[in-house]
Amino acid sequence: MEKSQIVIRAKPSPAIDLLTEAKSLSALAGQEAECTRCPLYKNATQVVPGEGSPQARVLLIGEQPGDVEDRSGRPFVGPSGKLLDIALERAGVERDKCFVTNAVKHFKFDPRGKRRLHKKPDAGEIDACRWWLDRERALLQPGLIVALGATAIRCALGRSEAVSQLRGEIFDLDGGAQFLATVHPSSLLRLKDESDKRQAWRGFLADLSKIASWIEKDEARAAR
Ligand code: URA
Repeated sequence: MEKSQIVIRAKPSPAIDLLTEAKSLSALAGQEAECTRCPLYKNATQVVPGEGSPQARVLLIGEQPGDVEDRSGRPFVGPSGKLLDIALERAGVERDKCFVTNAVKHFKFDPRGKRRLHKKPDAGEIDACRWWLDRERALLQPGLIVALGATAIRCALGRSEAVSQLRGEIFDLDGGAQFLATVHPSSLLRLKDESDKRQAWRGFLADLSKIASWIEKDEARAAR
């Protein structure tokens, strides 16, 4: 069977009653600001909710806010975000057509003097924050969910899968939407060797260009 014919089964989440819960993404952001579902809220400056048009058909999921995002309250505006913007543009994807969020919505870090060093969220923190991603999905009803890196994959699917197993293919999700995984842009920033960097960049653009083709087909379908 072709990889793309496989339906990915996500771990089911408890049902969401949108009649009794937040009815808009901006109301949801207000609720997220009060989040105490895991201890990360204690040291972060603020929550960083998802951002973008409520009509976006693509949901782009990162890992967690970094230092710049934590201070500004906006996702993907620091170094990884700048690289993501360039990559999206080169791949032909308008960021405005995506709702951009993170798996974990508070910055996790190790204080080192005046610096705050990014620390990977653990499975418990990702699973606790899945609550918010589930609600973003319920309100947005995206047609394509894009996971940038392993943390985003875990949050979207409710279980861990290697990026290398899934990347670059569009799969059907059992909940109805489609799913694409690729690397997190910060993995490119960490590479030292020039030829590794070039290869990783090409691979990242190839994966993101699948979003551009998906949007094109989706818009053509909607216009029919
Ligand atoms: N900034 C974000 O908002 N998310 C990431 O995953 C990395 C940087």
